[in-house]
Amino acid sequence: MNAIFNIRPKRLAADPSMRKGIVLAGGTGSRLFPMTHSVSKQLIPVYDKPMIYYPLTALMLAGIREILVISTPYDLPGFRHLLEDGSQWGLEILYAEQPKPEGLAQAFLIGEKFIDGKPVCLVLGDNLFYGNELAASLCAAASRMEGATIFGYHTKAPEQYGVVEFDSDGGVVSIEEKPAHPKSNYAIPGIYFFDDTVVERAKKLKPSARGELEISDLNRVYLERGELKVEILGRGTTWLDTGTPDSLADATQFVQVIQQRQGLKIACPEELAFVQGRIDREKLNESVVKYDGTPYGDYLKSL
Ligand code: DAU
Repeated sequence: MNAIFNIRPKRLAADPSMRKGIVLAGGTGSRLFPMTHSVSKQLIPVYDKPMIYYPLTALMLAGIREILVISTPYDLPGFRHLLEDGSQWGLEILYAEQPKPEGLAQAFLIGEKFIDGKPVCLVLGDNLFYGNELAASLCAAASRMEGATIFGYHTKAPEQYGVVEFDSDGGVVSIEEKPAHPKSNYAIPGIYFFDDTVVERAKKLKPSARGELEISDLNRVYLERGELKVEILGRGTTWLDTGTPDSLADATQFVQVIQQRQGLKIACPEELAFVQGRIDREKLNESVVKYDGTPYGDYLKSL
């Protein structure tokens, strides 16, 4: 056979906007009880905006347009009420239920129809990213159509996270979920870029000892086939999660300090949509009117 026919066709142009995005915003939020007893964790504020705005704008920074929000049947109406159909931000937002928190990788099974054979980025609804290198890192990951791209971030307490181990040449050696004895200080933040094979691979995962479809197991499948790229998010990037009262308070203070100093908002979807050319001034003005008489509305007016 002619060699040309043996070549697997290169995936379509590296257009990040064809990649689908999923925000996983379910779970019980039990570590934040009683705060999250009757309100979804990802709807409670981090300083001046709902937590989900932060991961949502990370997907926007990556150039993604179609987004599926997954949450519990109880909490989903709250997300719909807040985020609507996404058109106010030049997005298309859809919703799906996860009845029980059966693991992060379950997002790909729930989202199979939405993903529709496209590459996808999963972001956890309680992760916050900030920094001037961030957009470039996310866009680079989003435009890689083959394999998986995840990130490594130096932390003091890697045992609380997925942990990636490197060899002396920077090659990835292992991925472990919350190891008692971490083999490195590099935690894996909750944003993952996968190619169009992710659903099929997720279907083959078995629940872990704690009964969940683990994202680290999925990452390991890519690693074992030599298809996993781990990018380091350097010191210029801040990654925070908000799973405990202390980490939530840290995140709130972080956003407050930066915003007050700079007079610029972190994770303002209206601003990002406007700056990225996803919406025009007329559309932006609809949000100005919606939030008229509030500090948030004043900020939008100033853009
Ligand atoms: O934050 C990054 C870490 O997130 C990674 O380093 C770990 O590898 C990854 O397993 C995950 O660890 P967590 O301990 O933070 O996962 P947690 O169970 O707290 O879930 C993270 C978020 O996802 C949380 O907001 C709840 C939501 N979630 C979780 C599960 C298991 C769901 O919506 N559905 C689920 O089934």
